[in-house]
Amino acid sequence: MTTGGQAPPSGSSAGSFGYRDRHSGHHSWGLAAVASPVGHTEVRSSSSAAQFSHTAGLGATAATVDSAHRRQPEGALDGRSAAMAQHVTVPVVRARKGGVPLVMITAYDAPGARITSDAGADVILVGDSLGMVVLGYEDTLQVTLADMVHHTAAVARARPDALVVADLPWLTYHLSPEETVRNAAELIRAGAQAVKLEGGVARVPMVEALTRAEIPVMGHIGLTPQSVHVMGGYKVQGRHADAAAALVADGAALAGAGCFAIVLEGIPAEVARVVTESVSVPTIGIGAGPWCDGQVLVFHDLLGLEDRVLPRFVRRYGALKADAVSAIRSYADDVRARRFPSDDESYHAAGEVTAALSPPLAGPASRLA
Ligand code: KIV
Repeated sequence: MTTGGQAPPSGSSAGSFGYRDRHSGHHSWGLAAVASPVGHTEVRSSSSAAQFSHTAGLGATAATVDSAHRRQPEGALDGRSAAMAQHVTVPVVRARKGGVPLVMITAYDAPGARITSDAGADVILVGDSLGMVVLGYEDTLQVTLADMVHHTAAVARARPDALVVADLPWLTYHLSPEETVRNAAELIRAGAQAVKLEGGVARVPMVEALTRAEIPVMGHIGLTPQSVHVMGGYKVQGRHADAAAALVADGAALAGAGCFAIVLEGIPAEVARVVTESVSVPTIGIGAGPWCDGQVLVFHDLLGLEDRVLPRFVRRYGALKADAVSAIRSYADDVRARRFPSDDESYHAAGEVTAALSPPLAGPASRLA
């Protein structure tokens, strides 16, 4: 994997593919360095797109303090800065552009939210990857708004320090700006602080309507899993120069319409770099290389709860599926061998209760009488 500094590619002034973020005046860079077409690569993971995910940290200057959410006194942060234990807000995320990379992880329930937030994630995404990693569907298209509301509420009840962003599922933001706002409001009422939607230029009216309704929006371009049938599978996007240029235009359009951050999924690192340098808001990558302003991974992929596939963009930091299988096997062995529960793991009745329940001593003499 390519790594390197943040200097723009040489000869990168906005050329034929130049775009300007209308809010920031940020230029995009030319696309001369975009890799030549090499054919599509299947990148499907456990979660369709979930397939890909990440987290963020807090710049001290950007952080705001909400003492109601401060869980640990300063000095008890186990190596993390005090700022990292503060409640993360949309302005905090936006201010992280070009700073310490943002960390975003998906979560779908209260324990997942507590684990993710306690680990210092900046953003929890209640992703529609829910459909694949939790609900057992083949793709994300089966996920309903009711599913998302149910799981967003579970995440929010954990009161995480991380910002909670909820995915708008397929067909909840495609028909009209009005319907989009109404559907997004359900997620906000369930406890999300922002919503995410997939797509570029075509979504500008919806992003503008949400922004006008005071609902912060995260964009998502590149490999957009809700478009699986249009893409013909979970394939890396933006490999050709025209497709790469379209992604740059999509990024600029979303940022211009008011998105506070943009997920870049399943695109070449070089293209993600150009998009990142073209917009004034943070980009959060998944399968999009190292130059994004943050990274996102799916909870089940990162922890090895999902072990059936290992896409290139996933790094496993745990083997929880294997650990869980082994733990449950040990429990089953103990039950079958009557090693569980032990005396200490059992409740005991008082002596007189035990005596009252005991059958009378049935020796031969009493039987004769
Ligand atoms: O649904 C999801 O989990 C996502 C991330 C992979 C970005 O959209």
